[in-house]
Amino acid sequence: MTRIRVLFVCLGNICRSPLAEAIFKHKINRNGLHQHVEADSCGTSNYHIGDTPDDRTVANALRNGVTINHLGRQLAVTDLQDFDFILAMDSSNYRNILGLPGAEVHKEKILMMRSFDASDDHLEVPDPYYGGERGFQEVFEILDRSTDGFINHLRQQLSSRL
Ligand code: 4NP
Repeated sequence: MTRIRVLFVCLGNICRSPLAEAIFKHKINRNGLHQHVEADSCGTSNYHIGDTPDDRTVANALRNGVTINHLGRQLAVTDLQDFDFILAMDSSNYRNILGLPGAEVHKEKILMMRSFDASDDHLEVPDPYYGGERGFQEVFEILDRSTDGFINHLRQQLSSRL
């Protein structure tokens, strides 16, 4: 059976989406879902192609027990075909994904990350880039909750496939 493929998307691919990818992988490696699911992340911009994640994101993740291992890449049209879930961190990312040529037919798989946040599913994952340490911890906590909600969603989907 083919694995479910998940893509996390933000603007720069150095703060929010590589962290979402790392938290998600950390959890699926622990709970065994990695046999059925794989994940990647990217940015809508070309600002940080090939770059390691932001030092502040890396340090904050480590303080929370999560290691990030990713190099920046830009969202590509082929991602629309290659992934089963494309999760946008904010509404600007969402609009940019939907703006790719041919994206309309893939609309169902393009979702907001926080639609899986049980504490508030209407909000965005805020961009921590220009803020302080508190912003990075807030983003970690939002992504921790949102990945939990998303994993529950995947479990339901997988139980009907297995
Ligand atoms: P991210 O944060 O989208 O969460 O990776 C940003 C990183 C870099 C920039 C903006 C946001 N930037 O303008 O370079």
